[in-house]
Amino acid sequence: MAGTDTSTDPRGLAFITPEAFTDMEQWHATVRELRRESPVVRVEAEGWPSFWAVTRHADVFEVSRRSDVFWNTEKSAPGPDVQYDLLQASGIELPRTLVHLHGDIHQKYREVTSEWFKPAAVKHLQPNIEQIADEYVARLDDLGGQCDLAADLAVPFTIRVIMSIFGVPREDEGFMLELTQGLFGAADPEYLGDFSDPMSLITSTINRFETYFDELSAQRRAHPTDDLATVLANGTVDGEPLGELERLWYYIIIATAGHDTTSYAFSGGMEQLLRHQDQLRMIQQDPSLAANAAEEMIRWTSPVRSFFRWAQQDHELGGVLIREGDVVLTSYPSANRDEDVFEDPDRFDVTRTDADKLLSFGLGMHYCLGAQVARREVRTLLVKLLERVDTIELAGAPEWSGAHFVSGVKHLPVSYTLR
Ligand code: HEM
Repeated sequence: MAGTDTSTDPRGLAFITPEAFTDMEQWHATVRELRRESPVVRVEAEGWPSFWAVTRHADVFEVSRRSDVFWNTEKSAPGPDVQYDLLQASGIELPRTLVHLHGDIHQKYREVTSEWFKPAAVKHLQPNIEQIADEYVARLDDLGGQCDLAADLAVPFTIRVIMSIFGVPREDEGFMLELTQGLFGAADPEYLGDFSDPMSLITSTINRFETYFDELSAQRRAHPTDDLATVLANGTVDGEPLGELERLWYYIIIATAGHDTTSYAFSGGMEQLLRHQDQLRMIQQDPSLAANAAEEMIRWTSPVRSFFRWAQQDHELGGVLIREGDVVLTSYPSANRDEDVFEDPDRFDVTRTDADKLLSFGLGMHYCLGAQVARREVRTLLVKLLERVDTIELAGAPEWSGAHFVSGVKHLPVSYTLR
């Protein structure tokens, strides 16, 4: 019989405290204990909705699959209440992206782009991804044998790929980076800009996006091409054009979900490869290992830290009774280190045969739309980098970003020699 214990565990603050994500070894040590002792744990934090943190693979799996019970809502991205209060106070409507919608309406909006993201369609992006990887890896020639692999390679590469998918010009890359980090990097002080007035930062970020994407949509309606911007500009739901707000948020979710997630997967995976030079050399000698290596890099890093879901009825989960109206938090990095699923889960191993059980991309109706793109990006950049360098080593302490929603290695100093 499920218990109804609602006592809270201070260790659960690890899921929502931005700074906790700057020391992932400590974070995993804390969460490993929770997984063992209290796998569905009640967390209360000032300024946050109370929630149940779900840490085991089987339970994150169940929450994701049972979308009849656990709904996405306009507050799906875990955040303090103030985040939503600010949006509402600034007159901006709450987000309506795919991750904030549920049921039929979600399916209809997802169908607008789902063809575009199917494996067969994404395969056609490969030459483009390779060409972009070549271009950015070639920049290593000019960096004098030392660089920050996260800021100098992973970030600009992933931005360029997402921009090319949209079909927008290079000169807008810096602008896009500024905007998306203004929204989702927001917890890491390095990306905050002037946060003394958070309301005006959020409003101006959203307004600048709106203007930018309105112009882009108008252009694509006048001159359709085969890019994603054209699909969104001309997309319909129930025979009607996408609502203005939905179209804007559609752009925002793809632009934001599409680059720092993938760049963190690459940088964090590289951090491990640099520490395991034997594995790095194995891939260098046999690039056919890169696909599984990419999977392991994405399992290991799990850059999307969690989502919220709302229970619509009482439901027993991992021996705990979740009541109708309760909030649950799906911890992907924890599920990806679950001892019941992964052999020796804290071992980074590009040859492991169970890496594909990863939950980094979620599961079910909201399964990451860009998962195939992300996999290709990580794999391709890895192969191109290891083709170009002869040796590559850590040249300083890596740094993790302090953000509770999407985070990972933001600085990765390396020294390298070229072939
Ligand atoms: C390693 C990189 C990435 C990771 C770890 C990741 C992770 C996730 C996760 C955990 C979700 C929510 C899944 C769920 O609720 O079950 C998601 C949704 C989504 N992702 Fe990704 N993502 C990555 C890359 C990308 C890329 C490259 C794109 C776009 C090109 C993208 C677009 C989206 C979209 C649009 C959704 C919403 C889907 C929906 O709600 O129906 N993601 N992603």
